Amino acid sequence: MSNDFYARTYSPRQDALARAARPQAQAQALLRQTAASSSPGTDLLAPHRVHSEPYYRAVADEVELYEAAYSVRMPMMLKGPTGCGKTRFVEYMAWKLDKPLITVACNEDMTASDLVGRHLLDANGTRWQDGPLAVAARHGAICYLDEVVEARQDTTVVIHPLTDARRVLPLEKKGELLQAHPDFQIVISYNPGYQSLMKDLKQSTKQRFGALDFSYPEHDTEAEIVAHESGVGLDVAKKLVHIGERARNLKGHGLDEGLSTRMLIYAGSLIAQGVPALAACRVALVRPITDDPDMRDALDSAVTTYF
Ligand SMILES: Nc1ncnc2c1ncn2[C@@H]1O[C@H](COP(=O)(O)OP(=O)(O)OP(=O)(O)O)[C@@H](O)[C@H]1O
Ligand SMILES: [Mg+2]
Repeated sequence: MSNDFYARTYSPRQDALARAARPQAQAQALLRQTAASSSPGTDLLAPHRVHSEPYYRAVADEVELYEAAYSVRMPMMLKGPTGCGKTRFVEYMAWKLDKPLITVACNEDMTASDLVGRHLLDANGTRWQDGPLAVAARHGAICYLDEVVEARQDTTVVIHPLTDARRVLPLEKKGELLQAHPDFQIVISYNPGYQSLMKDLKQSTKQRFGALDFSYPEHDTEAEIVAHESGVGLDVAKKLVHIGERARNLKGHGLDEGLSTRMLIYAGSLIAQGVPALAACRVALVRPITDDPDMRDALDSAVTTYF
């Protein structure tokens, strides 16, 4: 599952680093390969199809709401704290709707060209290469812009004409006005609360999206998820969830963020590997989240209450 995910994730920064590090001959081979793969008849979206059902435990009516939103191709915003299931949800929905999923990990170095595309030089001269957003819009994929607030606002505005009634993407450097494929949909993720005034989406961006709120699932559901994903029994998973809930109450009282479902799964995975529960919780839950000695003591005592 995780390998699959990274294979489908397009990270401009990592891509650029890899390009810079790659010897010239290898780069040329890659260009030839890409040119071949963009020839007619090749399924460009093949690497982006989700073949097996990702495990996703619905928490409320988010699956039905997303299906309705997709049926009218409404751009969607998934809001919620880190590690609460947004990425897993979008992978599940792509599988359920049988649509390819192109994920872009946004960062502040990302430019509009990283999304839209650029001219490349190869042995035969200059040729245009669609960026991930243009590939999704042209061929009909769901394009998931992960952590979109990390991108600069001048980058984010390129999605505007795609996320209103026009559904077009101007490829200015190529001189093409790309009309989005009927299957194309754009989804963004957004962690409310992490934004500073300098780093937030413009209202004109926000108001182009429908939004689904995600938060940590209620106790029994979260325990079921932790047990399923980590391999521990339900009894251990429930204890981990109790610890998570205690820690979440400390948010704003010394902790910036509550313990995520992802962290509980990490702790469970260590326990399932035979690591003693106390050590597993320290490594996966307590130490990553705070350096404050009092806060660590408070979390340690929550752990020892249950283990
Ligand atoms: N409802 C759920 N059903 C199944 N698994 C879930 C669910 N919620 C969370 N998980 C588990 O929690 C892990 C973290 O979730 P995910 O990576 O989707 O978080 P996220 O909200 O995208 O976080 P971030 O904002 O940091 O990217 C997943 O790998 C999955 O194992
Ligand atoms: Mg995510």
